[in-house]
Amino acid sequence: MRLSTIVASVSAATLARAASWNLKDTYSGEDYMNKFDFWTDKDPTNGLVTYQSEDAAKSLNLTYVDDNKNFVMRVDTETTRTEGRPSVRIQSQSNYEDAVIVLEVSHIPTGCAVWPAFWTVTSNISQWPVGGEIDIMENVNDQYPANLAAVHIKDDCSINGSPQTGTTVFTNCNAEANDNSGCRIEMNNTDTATWGSNVNNKGGAVVAMERDFSSNGKGIRMWFWDKSQNMPSDISNPGKTVNPDNWGTPAANFGKLSCSNNADGSSQFDAHKIVFDITLCGDWAGNTYDQVSQCPAKYQSCANQVGQAGQSFEDAYWSVGNLYVYESSAKSAASNVRISSATVGIAAATTLAATMLAL
Ligand SMILES: *[C@@H]1O[C@H](CO)[C@@H](O)[C@H](O)[C@H]1NC(C)=O
Ligand SMILES: *[C@@H]1O[C@H](CO)[C@@H](O)[C@H](O)[C@H]1NC(C)=O
Ligand SMILES: *[C@@H]1O[C@H](CO)[C@@H](O)[C@H](O)[C@H]1NC(C)=O
Repeated sequence: MRLSTIVASVSAATLARAASWNLKDTYSGEDYMNKFDFWTDKDPTNGLVTYQSEDAAKSLNLTYVDDNKNFVMRVDTETTRTEGRPSVRIQSQSNYEDAVIVLEVSHIPTGCAVWPAFWTVTSNISQWPVGGEIDIMENVNDQYPANLAAVHIKDDCSINGSPQTGTTVFTNCNAEANDNSGCRIEMNNTDTATWGSNVNNKGGAVVAMERDFSSNGKGIRMWFWDKSQNMPSDISNPGKTVNPDNWGTPAANFGKLSCSNNADGSSQFDAHKIVFDITLCGDWAGNTYDQVSQCPAKYQSCANQVGQAGQSFEDAYWSVGNLYVYESSAKSAASNVRISSATVGIAAATTLAATMLAL
């Protein structure tokens, strides 16, 4: 009876705080090297790149912290590279489930052949698409004037969020649907620059993604502000908490998804790593290269550009400021209890059990 009283009060607190998120991790400058791992395997998307280790990336000057403390990740610009062009793909050592991720980006990679992405993906990549993938920023060959957000998962589940300022292009998030596009929302609200030189010329942007499959959660939502816009105060002046419910209409609203087995999408996502990469050509940018007429007109083919025209990749770089990760107060409360249970003993352990039940 005492246990159920605790459960009831913790549940009420969890519900009341569902919209509030507490700062868990901040990444800036060297953190992108020290707290991220550099991918050195072949590019799983078959790009014409050779991903570099941290040491190699540093010695090729593909990664560095610039004078404004931004972290830069860029593609090699040597004129000729016929064995794959050196590039960078990094992933966070930490894994995150429900969270709010906020990125300050000052330069987005642009250009023909260029396929950059900022995304989260299952920490067990060998089981993909089990565990899921959430693409927060992506484009190919600058083919789309706006940023593309997407979700790739194992099963047939549809976008069911609203409202949003962007446009739903594909609704089924199954990784094999729509020629392997999954579900996609194009952030083409005309008030906001969301891609390429439009963003870079404004000095950058801030993008935020909320993943919340808790009982009161609203699933997967994203917001995008270019630097010329007014931003919510918890975005322009980041502190210990954020409240996405105060951020206005999301640019992309996937919601909790509606799956064919009548479930929501919660079981489609496991612990995710945060990833930045820049690949060239490959499964997407290579296959659509000819659709962007100025690219073949200038370089003939995607492979020819990568092999022979290194200077065309001068603008193929990410420059990012701080990356903030917030977790829900319910989750931070549970981990705080976990710490105290070790020191305080059985009473706290009972509370921990109650908290876990409530979650
Ligand atoms: C790395 O590249 C940047 C941008 O081109 C340049 O400013 C910097 O001096 C380079 N650093 C080294 C060590 O070459
Ligand atoms: C990762 O996925 C593979 C393939 O599904 C599976 O065999 C393996 O057990 C998984 N590893 C972990 C740590 O879950
Ligand atoms: C956004 O993209 C969709 C699909 O391509 C298009 O139908 C719509 O007109 C676009 N809206 C704006 C404001 O550009």
